[in-house]
Amino acid sequence: MAEGEDHFLEVHLNLNVRGLSPSATVAINDRCNELRHEGREIFKLGLGQSPFPVPRPVVEALRQNAAQKDYLPVKGLWKLRETVAEHHRHTFGIDCAPDDVLIGPGSKELMFLLQLVYYGDLVIPTPTWVSYAPQAKIVGRQIQLLPTSMKTDWHLTPEQLEDLCKEDRGRPRILILNYPSNPTGRTYSLERLKEIAEVARRNRVVLLSDEIYGKLHHEGKHHSIVPLYPEGTIFSGGLSKWCGAGGWRLGLFVFPKSMRWLLNAMAAVGTETFTSTSAPIQYAAIRAFQGGPELDHYLQQSRRILGALGDLLTRLLRQSGASILSPHGGFYLFPNFSPHRDKLYARGIRTSPQMCQRLLEETGIATLPGSAFGRPPEEFTTRIAYVDFNGGKALAASEEIPPEQHLDEDFLRTHCGRVVNAVRRLCGWVLSPE
Ligand SMILES: Cc1ncc(COP(=O)(O)O)c(C=O)c1O
Repeated sequence: MAEGEDHFLEVHLNLNVRGLSPSATVAINDRCNELRHEGREIFKLGLGQSPFPVPRPVVEALRQNAAQKDYLPVKGLWKLRETVAEHHRHTFGIDCAPDDVLIGPGSKELMFLLQLVYYGDLVIPTPTWVSYAPQAKIVGRQIQLLPTSMKTDWHLTPEQLEDLCKEDRGRPRILILNYPSNPTGRTYSLERLKEIAEVARRNRVVLLSDEIYGKLHHEGKHHSIVPLYPEGTIFSGGLSKWCGAGGWRLGLFVFPKSMRWLLNAMAAVGTETFTSTSAPIQYAAIRAFQGGPELDHYLQQSRRILGALGDLLTRLLRQSGASILSPHGGFYLFPNFSPHRDKLYARGIRTSPQMCQRLLEETGIATLPGSAFGRPPEEFTTRIAYVDFNGGKALAASEEIPPEQHLDEDFLRTHCGRVVNAVRRLCGWVLSPE
C-alpha cells in the first residue's frame, strides 16, 4: 500500500484545498535537502531567502528579550507599531500613525487573512509571487490574472487595469502589486506608479502594495505607491528580506485610515487563529525599525553586493543567449531560455518544469520554473534566486572596499563564487548539444 493510503477515515477535505500541493518554493527546498542528504552537490537557487545574517544590533535585541513570554496584543506591541509607523513615514513617505499598523507572523499570513476577510476579486499581474493565487483558491476567491510581457518590463500597464475595470465598474477588487518583484527583480518607475494609482483611484480598486523588497532596491531608490494613492493602498512589508530574518516570521501591513474596518476584521480573525506574533521577535523588531548608522551600513553593503552580482549574472545569461532584464532590487533573475527552444526540444524538454527538473537532476542546480509564477509552461522562463553564498563573509569583505568603488568580477568570484559558478554551469547546460 502506498504511503498515505492507509486511511482509518475516508478522506474528507475542504474542496478548496483538494489537489493543493506544497508551495513551489518550499517544495524545491525540501527536494534540495533530500539530494544533499544523498551526497549530491546542490546549488540552491530555488528558495528566495536572504543570504545575509540578521544585523548584529537586532540579534542583540532578541537576545535581551528572550525571556519575554507574555501573549501580546493581536495587532502588535504598541511600541513596535509606533516605531513601524515612524519608520515608514520617514523611509517611504507614508503618512501613517501607530493605529494604522498591523503586525503579524509574516506578511504571507497577513495576506491570507486579508483575502479571507475582504469580499472581492483578486487581481494579479503575472509573473507573480507563488503564494497569492493559491491563497485566493484556499479561501474561495475569484482570481483574475493579468499577463504581462518582457516588452512591458514584466509590468502591468494602466491600460490593462482600465480594461479590466471597464468590464464591471462596481466590482470590489484587490490588485496586488509587488515591486521590486519576485520573480523578475524589476521595479516600477515613479511615472508608471502614478498612472496605475490614477486608474485605481478612478475605479476604486484597493491596492495591496507588496514592498517586501523595497529596502533592497539596489540603488536605495525605492518609490512606494502609497503616497500616490494613500486612501486606497495597503502597504505590505516586514523583516524577512531586508533584515535577513525570514525564519523569525514577522510581517506588517499599514492601512489607510479609511480601511480601519478591514484592519479590525483581520485582527478579529487573528484573535481566533495566531493570537499574537512571537513576543521576543516583536521586541527585537523594534530595534530593527529604529534603524541607525549600523543598520544603514548593513543595508548599503547588502545592496551593493546584490546589485553587482545581479548585473554580472545578467551579463552571463545574456551572453549565453537567454532573454533577460537586469534586476533593480532584491535577489532574483527571471531569464527566458525560449531562444534555445530547438536545443531543448532536441533533448525532449518541452516545458519549463521539465527544464528545471532536468537541470536539477543533471547539474545539481535548483531553480523554479516560470510556470510556478503564473507563466505558460511552454515558455522557458526560470526564476533564479541568487542567494547561495555566504552572506556574512561577503559583507565582511565588502566592508574593506571603499563605498564609492564598484564590486568587480574578482570580488564576486571570490565571495559569491557558488552562485557565479552555478549560473555558468547552467548556461553551459542550456547550450550543450544533448
Ligand atoms: C513577494 C513576496 N511577498 C511576500 C513574501 C512573504 O514574506 P514573509 O511572510 O516572510 O513576510 C515573500 C517571501 O518570499 C515574497 O517573496
